[in-house]
Parts: sequence; structure tokens; C-alpha cells
Amino acid sequence: MKIQVRQQNGITYAKARVKMVNYSLNVYTYLLNGLLIDCGPSRFSRDFINFFQEHNIHNVALTHFHEDHSGNAFWFSQQGIPVYIHKSVLNSCKKKAKLPIYRYIFWGKRESFLPQPISDRIEGENVTCKVVETPGHSPDHVALYSKEQGALFTGDLVVTPRPTVLLRGENVPQIIASLRCLLAYDFSTVYCAHAGPIRNGREVITKKIDYLETVTGKVLELHQQGWDILEIRKRMFPKTPMLSYISAKDWASEHIVESIIMHNQ
Ligand SMILES: [Fe+2]
Repeated sequence: MKIQVRQQNGITYAKARVKMVNYSLNVYTYLLNGLLIDCGPSRFSRDFINFFQEHNIHNVALTHFHEDHSGNAFWFSQQGIPVYIHKSVLNSCKKKAKLPIYRYIFWGKRESFLPQPISDRIEGENVTCKVVETPGHSPDHVALYSKEQGALFTGDLVVTPRPTVLLRGENVPQIIASLRCLLAYDFSTVYCAHAGPIRNGREVITKKIDYLETVTGKVLELHQQGWDILEIRKRMFPKTPMLSYISAKDWASEHIVESIIMHNQ
């Protein structure tokens, strides 16, 4: 069994760990009263499908389209169990994903599936989650909030309070706005798709906002002094992490700097 299954405060979660060279990352799916939130990468299909078969799953909500969240969605489409995702990516999910090779190796393929558009609420058994649009990590990203549980499922929006690299296309000003939006809800624990359950979730979100606002201020100051994106990156983020090499700069500190400058032009 490559995945670990645990339960906490009425929420069941399945965790897998992926390693490549010196880099490793956990990925979590959460099950709340018949509502599955994200469904894991296909690299662990056999184990995840065993987990799905052992539990009553009525609905699946995907926080966003990335393959580590949607890799096993094809199985639910085969079973006739509804899968919901943001309306902007419905068509792309109906085709097999074309992934960069490092993502294919890391997470596995993402087969086509047939999702339905997620609305502003989604139901499990005796539970309703509010769906909150939280773009920034990806344009289609949503978070789910259960008032009964005081739980916030944040997909890939939180992950770490001090990111030094972002995925190409991630947007710092949007991430800040989305995190601020989440603070309006009454929650303590955040259920992150990579960091797992974070008990002091509100504090971590606040720290991340503070960090990204400080980074934004420094980037804009240096840019106003005439520094370009690469120069600012070298000064603010001098170390190039392993992930940048593995991904051929798909993950890079430049994306932090660039998204801030582009937003403020
Ligand atoms: Fe993601």
C-alpha cells in the first residue's frame, strides 16, 4: 500500500508521497461525509481506487485541474459518480492532458474525464460546502469551506507560507487577494493538498499574506530603481532550488517577480 489513510475530526484523508532525485512531495485527498475533495495522481491509481472503493463517495469536487488533483477522476466518470470542477476547464478535462515530461514522471498521466461545472455550493451526506473562487495558483482554483466542521480545504493555495519558487502562470497579486478572501470565513484548520491538515491554518495564511506583501514591496522598489526581472530574482532569490532544474524553470523564482511586475504595469 503506497498511500496512508487516516481520520481526523470526521474527515478521512489519503496521503501519498512522491520522490524524484532529491525532491519529494506529499499529496492528500480528503473525504468529508461522502464528498471527496481532489482525487490524487494516477501514479498511485491502484491504491487510490482501493481507497475510493472502501468508502461511500457520492460527489467529487476538484480544487483545480492539475494532474495531482485530477489524475484519478477518470475512474469516477467510469463509475457514473459526478466530478465537479470550475467551468473554465470543463473542455480541457474532456481530453487527455499533455504534460511536461517531468510532471508525467512525477505524477503520472491524466486521462480524460467528464466533469460538471461546480456551483457555489456542493453537497456530501449531511454536509454542504461553500465553494470559494480562489484564483492565483491556477485560474480555475477553488477552495471549499465547511461551516459545520470549521474546515477549509485550500487545494494548492497555501502549501507553504514562504514560497521561493512558483509554477509558471501563478500570480502573486491574485494569490494574496484569494488568501485575504479566505480569512473572511470562520475556520481554524486548513486542509492543504500538499502540507496536509494545518491546525494553525489561519495563522499560516496570515503569515503567507505578510510574506507575499513584503516580497511585492521589495520587487516593486527594485523595479522602480531600474532593475529587470532577472536582476531582481538574483538579488532576492539567489539560490536556484532543485525543482527549478528538474522542471527546466517551469518552477522558478522569476515567476514570482514577473507576476508582481506585470500586475503593476
Ligand atoms: Fe496545483
